[in-house]
Amino acid sequence: QCGIAVESRIDCGRDRSLSRADCEGRGCCYVPLPQSGLGGPPWCFYPVCYPGYKMGPLLPTEKGQRATLARSAPSYLPRDIPTLQLDAMPETLGRLHLTLKDPASPRYEVPFVTSQSRGHKDIQNPLYDVNFQPDPFGFIVRRKSNGRVLLNTTIGPLLFADQYLQLSTSMASSVISGLGEHYTPITLDINWSSVSLWNRDMAPHRSANLYGSHPFFLVQEGDGLAHGVFLLNSNAMEVFLQPAPALTWVTVGGILDFYIFLGPSPQSVVQQYHEVIGNPMMPPYWSLGFHLCRWGYTSTNITRTVVQLMRQAKIPLDVQWNDLDYADQRRVFTFDPQRFGDLPQMVEEFHQLGMKYVLILDPGISSASPPGSYKPFDDGLKRGVFIKNSTGQILIGKVWPGPTAFPDFTNPTTQDWWMDCIRVFHSKVPVDGLWIDMNEPSNFVQGSVDGCPDSDLEKPPYTPGVIGGQLNSGTLCVSAQQYLSDHYNLHNLYGLTEAIATHRVLLKVKSTRPFVLSRSSFPGMGRFSAHWTGDVRSDWEQLRFSIPGVLLFGLYGIPLVGADVCGFGGDTTEELCVRWTQLGAFYPFMRNHNDRPNAPQEPYVFSQQAQDAMRTAITLRYSLLPFLYTLFHHTHFSSSTVARPLFLEFPTDPNCQSIDRQFLWGSSLLISPVLEEGAVQVTAYLPPGTWYIVDTVTIFHPPFDPLKGQYILFPAPLDTINVHVREGSIIPQQVPALTTTASRRNPFTLIVALSVGNWAKGELFWDDGESLDTFEHGHYSYVLFFAQEVQNRVNLTVKLNGSLDGLVLGEVRVFGVQASPTAVWANGQKVHDFSYSPDTKVCNKCLCFILIFKMC
Ligand code: NOJ
Repeated sequence: QCGIAVESRIDCGRDRSLSRADCEGRGCCYVPLPQSGLGGPPWCFYPVCYPGYKMGPLLPTEKGQRATLARSAPSYLPRDIPTLQLDAMPETLGRLHLTLKDPASPRYEVPFVTSQSRGHKDIQNPLYDVNFQPDPFGFIVRRKSNGRVLLNTTIGPLLFADQYLQLSTSMASSVISGLGEHYTPITLDINWSSVSLWNRDMAPHRSANLYGSHPFFLVQEGDGLAHGVFLLNSNAMEVFLQPAPALTWVTVGGILDFYIFLGPSPQSVVQQYHEVIGNPMMPPYWSLGFHLCRWGYTSTNITRTVVQLMRQAKIPLDVQWNDLDYADQRRVFTFDPQRFGDLPQMVEEFHQLGMKYVLILDPGISSASPPGSYKPFDDGLKRGVFIKNSTGQILIGKVWPGPTAFPDFTNPTTQDWWMDCIRVFHSKVPVDGLWIDMNEPSNFVQGSVDGCPDSDLEKPPYTPGVIGGQLNSGTLCVSAQQYLSDHYNLHNLYGLTEAIATHRVLLKVKSTRPFVLSRSSFPGMGRFSAHWTGDVRSDWEQLRFSIPGVLLFGLYGIPLVGADVCGFGGDTTEELCVRWTQLGAFYPFMRNHNDRPNAPQEPYVFSQQAQDAMRTAITLRYSLLPFLYTLFHHTHFSSSTVARPLFLEFPTDPNCQSIDRQFLWGSSLLISPVLEEGAVQVTAYLPPGTWYIVDTVTIFHPPFDPLKGQYILFPAPLDTINVHVREGSIIPQQVPALTTTASRRNPFTLIVALSVGNWAKGELFWDDGESLDTFEHGHYSYVLFFAQEVQNRVNLTVKLNGSLDGLVLGEVRVFGVQASPTAVWANGQKVHDFSYSPDTKVCNKCLCFILIFKMC
């Protein structure tokens, strides 16, 4: 019974460390090991077939099958749930839904998150099958096509007590990604590690629970196939990983609500996950431009100067931001009458320049102003919008303005009050978007200014390994009461609920696509908000880790994401800031943001050489925005990813499994940034196929072995970021300008990257960039590009489908034209000013024409 291989032993004493007697008292095996029990294999572990629940007969239901599970004997935990109801619901061919709840009394369940998309039970021939082990209860999910066991929960007991739910499973491979938000590579360490999910205001560093919680992971099975698992549960959770490979979930409340996605490709796992949590929103076009912010732009005049200097330096800038500096005594919904007295006028000026303006909005509402002097609090008090403590008084914590109350966004009254607050403010200061910060929620005192009660909620029988050691560290008392439930259950949803409320208000107030940037996140947030990775330090390691950070949020369905370019904490250096700007030019969301005490880091403060390099990078981004926007359209409608890890695109290439120093935009642009100080070269992995360098000077690369990828050392002087375009693709671009308002009026250009077989294709989604539901209403154009060489002629055809007129196509660059063309024609007319380089095999203006698209 105890003869279990070390790497497969499942800890029987997670809740506390056990002596031999305690361990054996639980009926577990006690086998001391030479190394310390801390962090390594457990000394006390479950024997084979440790008693748990016993399953009754499986009966058909409308949605699948149901069984009752009963504990044969009490577990070692307080308040066992003696009887459970199991529902197994095959929802689609690739999605299985399994829940375990208490049939006797309803427990807290995550109130929203899952989108409408429901499957049906009559699934013919799904990709999976499920088998149950009745006693002790466990289930096994197999991939039907190859019999591979994806999950096997019979390796450990199911524990289901009021505040402790635990389930273990074997894993089909050790290559697992997800379970954020943490400071990790793209694949997790499974060598006796654990990650805790509990939203926390915490500057990114190793082993810390950070701002968001995403209880979803994707497993690469090793042969190109992949599956994913989502545990829809918002309670504090810890997930343990061990080299068997195996995984154990422990959560301190709610129910067990699993979704299992069979893929079979990694990209389809992501799609199946997003079908459940909802597809990401379509962002406004301007939000893909460059954003500039700093805590410490202390007046409107200083803010204006920043914009002026950016324009003088001829560096594109779409969105100027202000941090908390604008607010009168740091109270949201006010602005400082002296330093920001003419804020409305400043915003108007920015709008005249074709720019947008975003302001920070913290949830904490100052509670210390004299009654009658601060309407948001007075009104909120009257309307009962704030979170209450366990005895029913308003819970007061401390954030930037001092004592604050916290709106309860699960309460419909609060949502209306939030609407009123923003509407009134917006009527004075017509902001274009809102930045919702500090919404874990962050609290500078533990729990509240009055502490927290001594209760089972504040001190559960088991506390996941969170920073501060207690659930109320850096946030509210978890016994605080919200409209829908205790903060204990709803804590991880605070940012999401605020994002939903804020999105809704902007939608109403502006009637255009809302832009919200939220720090805290939970599954489903991508439908409402963008995200940034918080208070990253200005150093090379954080630059490097920003890539997996951004890529993982793509998997979590929040594709509009970026890290603070040049770093937020500490002084940046010129070189770091240049490299960060180059990488940031390929974050889906690009904002340079800095903390108050640090050296300035706006592009114009650096040497001419650095400014030139930054301008080149940002301009390159601007030229590529039509392509980026088209990727967002796909993500919005069919849930692909924008910034994409290589394994998603090349799942069968083992070299791609864990690459996170490079990434793709969609399937055809490969970005290989410099991530090391002093480096002027970069080693990049080029997956199988031909790749062309996208640059001002374009170099054609001879076709690589089409079946094999290779590592190549590329020059990367300070002014260069290596970007490669994949053979067979056509990338729509637009002549860049200082704002997207201006660049959107410029001609489009194309990169046509011919494949070895001499064809290429691409597409462009185009609309006005800000109206709601343009796709649904048919207010868009969809352009398909197709190039093919037939009898020594490369033909480019452009098919326009849509309702927008007046798009102008300018230059076309064709990569991979093997011989100098003798003539170039466009729309039946000869083009005379084309050029061809035999060295690079690039034909500029080849097939070049000015084409006015007409409606089909
Ligand atoms: C914390 C945020 O993470 C940071 O970006 C912001 O500048 C400060 N709060 C001040 O508002």
